[in-house]
Amino acid sequence: MNKPTVVSGIRPTGFLHLGNYFGAVRNFVRMQNDYHCFFFIADIHSLTTHPTPENLQAGVKQVLAEYLACGIDPEKATIFIQSDVPEVTELYTFLNMNAYLGELERTTSFKEKARKQPENVNAGLLTYPVLMAADIIIHKANFVPVGKDQEQNLEMARKFAGRFNRIYNSEVFPIPRPFTFDGKDMIKVPGLDGSGKMGKSEGNAINLYEDPKSIRKKVMRAVTDTGPTEQNSPKSEAVENLFTLMKIVSKHDVVEHFDGLYNRCEIRYGDMKKQLAEDIIAFTNPIRTRIDEILKDEAYLAKVAREGSEKACESALKTLNEVKQLIGFKSLF
Ligand code: TYM
Repeated sequence: MNKPTVVSGIRPTGFLHLGNYFGAVRNFVRMQNDYHCFFFIADIHSLTTHPTPENLQAGVKQVLAEYLACGIDPEKATIFIQSDVPEVTELYTFLNMNAYLGELERTTSFKEKARKQPENVNAGLLTYPVLMAADIIIHKANFVPVGKDQEQNLEMARKFAGRFNRIYNSEVFPIPRPFTFDGKDMIKVPGLDGSGKMGKSEGNAINLYEDPKSIRKKVMRAVTDTGPTEQNSPKSEAVENLFTLMKIVSKHDVVEHFDGLYNRCEIRYGDMKKQLAEDIIAFTNPIRTRIDEILKDEAYLAKVAREGSEKACESALKTLNEVKQLIGFKSLF
């Protein structure tokens, strides 16, 4: 039986953080055995924020090494760099003809970016969800493992796939669905600053490639509150976030222990943070060592990228040819 197809990607705008790992990469690793997987580095998407050529190249290499260090196996999954598969941008151009200004302008991530960087509201930012749809549907993905923050972009991809099918009276594209394990909700890993998600641009992230000293410093500085004064009282957002992080990285009984202390008004946030920092370090340290090893092996990185791009191009070209037929492109020579 054919395995369902999975596509997902990450922008190479620095180091991967715990949000990227627990929102996405952990699922990539779990899925690679049972699904036909394509995991890529979204370097074209990252151009919306205008990286220098040096930063772009370093970011791509870093994410590739991090994918591998986290356990994505190029023998099982196709790992590739978005810009090595030009078919994606061709499909993006076609999809743009049926993507409307109103719906693109209403996207939350566009509005947020436009607010954050008013000096750089470029067309790539506006059509970001269209390129993302092209990434996904060019491999006819059935599932897309992403964190909660990508939910709306994925909804747009579903819309563009369905729209194309309808316009050309075809079923060329499956309608992709978000993927989470055990039917759980898509996850949002919180930041350390009291509210919102962990993110590269939010400056509240802990990277996989972060040294223990820096992890301790960041966690100890995490925002909390003055502490509970009544038994079993609800938690403030900042404290809830700390518990959420702990649930993600620590053992169940550790979380229970601190939850009990909180409910009995005996908690000392300093102790909780110390434990959380050590649990994060225990998790990231082996990954950090592997990242260093892999980054040294340029030939291996080049081989993975080359072989991945060959497989991804083959899959993408197949779909693109079908799409061109449907649209009515026929060569006159
Ligand atoms: P990016 O690079 O911002 O994030 C990569 C992945 O990490 C997840 N993530 C989180 N999950 C939970 N909690 C967090 N705090 C957190 N922060 C980040 C994101 O949900 C994402 O899964 N547009 C995408 C990249 C992309 C893509 C695609 C993804 C381009 N084309 C096609 C899937 C399919 C992005 O910017 O992700």
